[in-house]
Amino acid sequence: MSRVRVAVLASGRGSNLAALVAAARDPLYPAEIALVLSNRPGAGALERARAAGLPAVCVDHRPFGRDRSAHEAAIHAVLEEHGIGLVALAGYMRLLTPLLVTRWQGRMLNIHPSLLPALPGLDTHGRALAAGVKLHGCTVHLVTEVMDDGPILAQAAVPVLPGDTPDTLAARVLAQEHVVYPLALALHAGRPAHLPDPDCAMLNPLPAGHAAP
Ligand code: GRF
Repeated sequence: MSRVRVAVLASGRGSNLAALVAAARDPLYPAEIALVLSNRPGAGALERARAAGLPAVCVDHRPFGRDRSAHEAAIHAVLEEHGIGLVALAGYMRLLTPLLVTRWQGRMLNIHPSLLPALPGLDTHGRALAAGVKLHGCTVHLVTEVMDDGPILAQAAVPVLPGDTPDTLAARVLAQEHVVYPLALALHAGRPAHLPDPDCAMLNPLPAGHAAP
């Protein structure tokens, strides 16, 4: 079975990366983690990747200054060098420009810690508590030029409990992120390009223009 080569882009600790790596250890999983890339030399995700024996590359954004496109062109070159078929953003804390988004349209996933379209952006757990929502969760979606937008592939919901703090709520959501991201990546990686979505309640049809790989 040929497996889709996935690059995980992460800026931080990399717990979602770890979940994806663990899932991909199963030889029947339809994707392999072929590259971990970060914009931060000290990212825990790079440490985890090296510990797992995976190629770990830092493309530091700082030498590029304000030239986001040049930074993304450098990232794109690394992705091509490694024969990447899908990109999974996992706590990648840079706003993307059309350069990368367009080149990877339909082939770039992101995980966001809220039930999109509610609560895009930062501090989702604190904002969920402030808003008094009773359900919170996480979303895996395809990346478009609008931040935390794009076709939703999978979601997981958790209850908001009395006494929750942003940290307790974040921990409950994160546990679900580690379940739903490997599932969504497998569903997307395993979807034949010529077929519409499988009949799965967790998936929404891809709109025209979002060709699966
Ligand atoms: C996760 O909460 C993810 O939803 C968000 O950034 C965080 C990354 O955490 N996009 P980790 O680095 O995967 O532990």
